[in-house]
Amino acid sequence: MSEPTKLTTASGAPVADNQNSQTAGQRGPVLIQDYHLLEKLANFNRERIPERVVHAKGAGAHGYFEVTHPVSQWTKAKFLSEVGKRTPVFIRFSTVAGEKGSADTERDPRGNAIKFYTEEGNYDLVGNNTPVFFIRDPLKFPDFIHSQKRHPATGLRDPNMAWDFWSHSPEALHQITILFSNRGTPKSYRHMHLYGSHTFMWYNDKGEAVWVKYHFKTDQGIQNFRREEAVRVAGEDPDYATRDLYEAIERGDYPSWTLYVQIMPLQDAETYRFDPFDVTKVWSHKDYPLIPVGKLVLNRNPENYFAEVEQAAFSPANLVPGIAPSPDKMLQGRLFAYADAHRYRLGVNHHLLPINRPIAPVNNYQRDGFMRFDGNGGGQVNYEPNSYNGPVQVPDAAAPPLAVSGYATSHPYREDDHYTQPGDLYRLLDPQEKADLIDNIVASLKHARQDIQLRMIEHFRKADEGYGARVAEALGLVSVR
Ligand code: HEM
Repeated sequence: MSEPTKLTTASGAPVADNQNSQTAGQRGPVLIQDYHLLEKLANFNRERIPERVVHAKGAGAHGYFEVTHPVSQWTKAKFLSEVGKRTPVFIRFSTVAGEKGSADTERDPRGNAIKFYTEEGNYDLVGNNTPVFFIRDPLKFPDFIHSQKRHPATGLRDPNMAWDFWSHSPEALHQITILFSNRGTPKSYRHMHLYGSHTFMWYNDKGEAVWVKYHFKTDQGIQNFRREEAVRVAGEDPDYATRDLYEAIERGDYPSWTLYVQIMPLQDAETYRFDPFDVTKVWSHKDYPLIPVGKLVLNRNPENYFAEVEQAAFSPANLVPGIAPSPDKMLQGRLFAYADAHRYRLGVNHHLLPINRPIAPVNNYQRDGFMRFDGNGGGQVNYEPNSYNGPVQVPDAAAPPLAVSGYATSHPYREDDHYTQPGDLYRLLDPQEKADLIDNIVASLKHARQDIQLRMIEHFRKADEGYGARVAEALGLVSVR
């Protein structure tokens, strides 16, 4: 056996005794000169960092993305430029509302944050396992999340708050219908589709743009828990999905997804039958069929959970040339929120952490700040323009300009059909799936006040008469019409 490495203090000095504190005499008090003891206790006290305000519980893995179909007619992003091109990725899956120690099988959307380490900088796609979301204006996000988290008085998760908010937010009905179907309790992170959810812009090297939506279809097939199983597993193994992902990769059973995109010509957005930037709606696959792009494969576990999974920082603002935001208001709000969260959670220099570091060279005039642990730009001047051959802007990297018009004020969405798509989804479910949906809703909604239940039934009814009637009947409020 090789010699064990020497135990040292944080400053690298050898530690003489890691079993006994230094004391004044055999039974005397502990000495303040025992620096190793002080450092050990002090470091331990500082082990926790703020958990993510949402998506606190998660699991991560490394892998790659490989292009299988040409898409350079729509985007000039280099990592998508040719068939066979591989880009390293890191992905973090998560639940949304629970804390870091919460159960993996809770009813919740699942997050899928993917970092593509491209030669043109990191591209982060921070989506969910659902193609839509509960709200469509970022102004509502803190209220929405408050309603999903703990009650200020009791410290308890509170179905009354959750349904109260939803009953006043009819735009949530589509996502509610997905969430309370068995897709709200996926069997593992491997057995669900992943979506970019928002609409993004792709543009090619001629500056021609299209609107795009991402769909990663699981190659493992969709598998969900039914409610009773999800509840049982939450008790037996709260880390079930984290374990499942880790063990699958350890045994070489690498999970993969096939990426498809929907492409909408720019001008269609003006005339499409609803606002294509509204994240509570899906685009019809008949209108915009799925086009294959590539394969996402996860084949390597993190070596250190904190260093890689906890310190990973994903932001929808991390884009590369060829990909730009759409005017989706939610996406626009997110462009600010994530890096701001990272500055709070990890510090201003979070991008220097190994898991977040681009493989592309980073050249700019940002300097200093807490925990600046690279060379900090060395002796280069820290302003621009300059006469010292410092980094200069790259006009080619600009996204095509977006035409806008109208008044600068608070605009409600023009279009308010919150019911057609959830109704269509309900009607698509088979009888067992319908029964499970109603059962799952009622198991939660029965804990809400009756006026809230009635408001929700009205929404369900507007989506589909039978949908509303069955929830009402199961709650004992009215009989089936
Ligand atoms: C995490 C804000 C909507 C997916 C987060 C975090 C914040 C946040 C602050 C924690 C980031 C961190 O500490 O690293 C918001 C705001 C939203 C919004 C303000 C709306 C305006 C969405 C939507 C999706 C989404 C629509 C999916 C389509 C995620 C995911 C994570 C996350 C997957 C976890 C990222 C990770 O694994 O580190 N969000 N969010 N969020 N959000 Fe959002």
